[in-house]
Amino acid sequence: MSYYLGLDIGTSSTKAILIDAQGNIIANVTSHYDFQTPKPLWAESNPSDWWDATKDCIAQILKENSAEDIKGIGLTGQMHGLVVLDKEGEVIRPCMMWNDQRTQEQCDEVYATIGKEEYIKITGNQVLTGFTVPKLLWLRKYEPENYAKIDKILLPKDYIRYKLSGTYSSDVSDASGTGLLEVKERKWSNVLLEKLDIPATVLPSLYESVEISAHVSASAAQETSLLEETPITAGAGDQAAQAVGCGISKEGIISATFGTSGVVFAHSKDYTSLEDGSLHSFCSAVPGEWHLMGVMLSAAGSFQWYKDQLGYEESEKEEKEGINAFTSLLENAEQTPVGSEGLFFLPYLSGERTPYADPLVRASFIGLTQKHTKAHMTRAVVEGITYGMKDLLALVNKAGVNSNVVIASGGGTKSDFWLQMMADIFEAQIKTVNASEGAAFGAALLATVGTKVYDTVEQACQAVIKETKSVNTSPYAFFYKNQHALYQKLYPALKDHYERINE
Ligand code: XUL
Repeated sequence: MSYYLGLDIGTSSTKAILIDAQGNIIANVTSHYDFQTPKPLWAESNPSDWWDATKDCIAQILKENSAEDIKGIGLTGQMHGLVVLDKEGEVIRPCMMWNDQRTQEQCDEVYATIGKEEYIKITGNQVLTGFTVPKLLWLRKYEPENYAKIDKILLPKDYIRYKLSGTYSSDVSDASGTGLLEVKERKWSNVLLEKLDIPATVLPSLYESVEISAHVSASAAQETSLLEETPITAGAGDQAAQAVGCGISKEGIISATFGTSGVVFAHSKDYTSLEDGSLHSFCSAVPGEWHLMGVMLSAAGSFQWYKDQLGYEESEKEEKEGINAFTSLLENAEQTPVGSEGLFFLPYLSGERTPYADPLVRASFIGLTQKHTKAHMTRAVVEGITYGMKDLLALVNKAGVNSNVVIASGGGTKSDFWLQMMADIFEAQIKTVNASEGAAFGAALLATVGTKVYDTVEQACQAVIKETKSVNTSPYAFFYKNQHALYQKLYPALKDHYERINE
């Protein structure tokens, strides 16, 4: 048997998926951990928790499957995190994660040193609070004793590669989100390193996503029961891997992923960057190609928060009767009128990245009246998330990528109600594909290309990914267009007040 293992080092869990060369899922397991928010705007996670969860997932998989059958491993994970290691390869402090927003001062410092226009020209992107480089500068200023110990910096999935193989490497898609890559050239930027006074030696070596970057070491084989020398494909950041897993590997295809964060993503054969850097312009997992993407920080994450805080009856029902709490919430929401009778939810629970690069913006319900019920609030949350995603789609269209079809993935696509809402708010046909397992699936597919089962990512996608559902717009699309226009007026009206609110 020949199987391929995809490992996704996520925000609150590690997922492992084992597939065969035809993309059939042989095993699919998850192991959870928490992340910490020691202060407002901070988000940290312990790399040792990811490694424990990875070992747990591998152990679960090897209960039913033989290590000899695993012909290749592909890695993916949350992007932008800063893992710092000392000379002995030990973690110096917890990882500052993608949703950590403490570094506005350092983003300003980068622009002051390089110049904003010049920085965007070099990297193709704005420098954002969640990115890796301002975190490194934060550490230099606020934890100089930790900064002094740094021998290597790694992204989250690359820490797991290090634990599996003892090597320090990354791939160009994930490296694009550090803020230190010349995305067009697909190489670390010596100009930036020099001007920001960061030694090049701290950075890992770079690969294209489908290249074999390392092999399982003898000690990792002992710790995990994987076979020594199993090849590890470079892999990709979670959004690039998710795109591969949904078949977004060809020019002009647009996808929308409703994960903790929400992403609208467009593949491009050529390098493109918006002049103001308002969309991310990153290297694709397809060698020599690129993608544009917009990221909202709390998409399904907003719905998760809402369920945790206000879905206690539904959660109780889930415990007693086994009916999924999200499903119950959505069923009730569907009974309320389109537009939630004037109630809006702004989904900015973790600040925002696209379209507003604003770490201080906060979430809110706007328009509550006596008449509104919890079901209205649920609907408003789901509509607010989808309006936020429409904002990202509008930017992708502005960058010149237009399509009447959007491939949707993530939790929300399990609900026909939400799928219809996506079609209406996006004014596009929504399609789903069989690969609902997201980034881990994409990483496993990259391992099939790395080990030469397929010659190209596109060939692997064609062989494996099939359309499962298709939803057209309904007459409500027109109504939603007006609602979205109103939604877009709310952030500008409130934005000057968030600084005081945060104080
Ligand atoms: C992508 C991004 C998120 C994180 C967490 O730019 O910030 O997708 O990788 O999933």
